Amino acid sequence: MSPPARRSALVTGGSRGIGAEIAARLAAEGYDLTIAARDPETLERTAARLRERGAGEVYPTVAAMNDLDQVRNLVRGHGERFGGMNVLVMSAGTGTAGRVADMAPKTYERMLDINFRAPLTLIQTALPLLRSSAAADPGRGAKIIALASITGVVGEPGLAAYGATKSALISLCETVSLEESRHGVAATALSPGYVDTDMTVWKHDVLDPAAMLTTADIAELALAVTRLSAAAVVPNIVVARAGDQLWRA
Ligand SMILES: NC(=O)c1ccc[n+]([C@@H]2O[C@H](COP(=O)([O-])OP(=O)(O)OC[C@H]3O[C@@H](n4cnc5c(N)ncnc54)[C@H](OP(=O)(O)O)[C@@H]3O)[C@@H](O)[C@H]2O)c1
Repeated sequence: MSPPARRSALVTGGSRGIGAEIAARLAAEGYDLTIAARDPETLERTAARLRERGAGEVYPTVAAMNDLDQVRNLVRGHGERFGGMNVLVMSAGTGTAGRVADMAPKTYERMLDINFRAPLTLIQTALPLLRSSAAADPGRGAKIIALASITGVVGEPGLAAYGATKSALISLCETVSLEESRHGVAATALSPGYVDTDMTVWKHDVLDPAAMLTTADIAELALAVTRLSAAAVVPNIVVARAGDQLWRA
């Protein structure tokens, strides 16, 4: 069977930061895109930039990841527009620092909602689309890429609940590959240290943004994953910052 003429990708958190950079790289590869986030103006601005960059269609969709009905509708909208899904990128995420001793339930519930419950629901809703796109493109299959964190691999003081939600996401990716790679669907977690985005502005007084990873570093790895054959499963890619702290964010 020949590969499909057009590929499509859904990118949550696609309006800014890592998600926007991955979306830009996918646009340049010719993908049709749905990008999702909460703020409509930022979404529209990013969509306009992506349209200049790629040949594919770009649909910005407002969807809050803490509302699971909005999460499901986001996936359904993508399926109705494009008839399948070759790549699902889950970049929407949130992090609040705090020690275990002091963490309020409302703070960790929010991280669980956005960093774990939403990705689980995204995957559950998208699997029929991913499977059908994988069947139409058996050489490459379909890919799920989840933005986890190095703090999900090794604990880091002050980032307990955030890291725990990312550990759950890494585990979810492993199991999805175990259950779905025979249908051509493989999931990969990307687990970087600090990346220079809006999310890390709070660190600027202790960590120079120039010492952080770049969104381009992460997008490069995401693109490589999308190009792998269906024979390959990459469970997790850890990306450390240069320096003497290999397993620290
Ligand atoms: N930056 C880092 O150092 C770093 C390191 C490791 C892992 N990560 C992970 O990488 C991912 C992307 O991070 P980033 O640095 O690119 O963050 P960012 O620059 O803050 O961008 C976050 C994106 O997610 C969207 N978003 C946030 N909360 C949302 C919600 N509740 N519902 C829907 N969309 C939401 C944002 O748009 P709206 O605000 O308009 O909704 C935006 O598009 C996250 O999962 C993060 O945990 C980041």
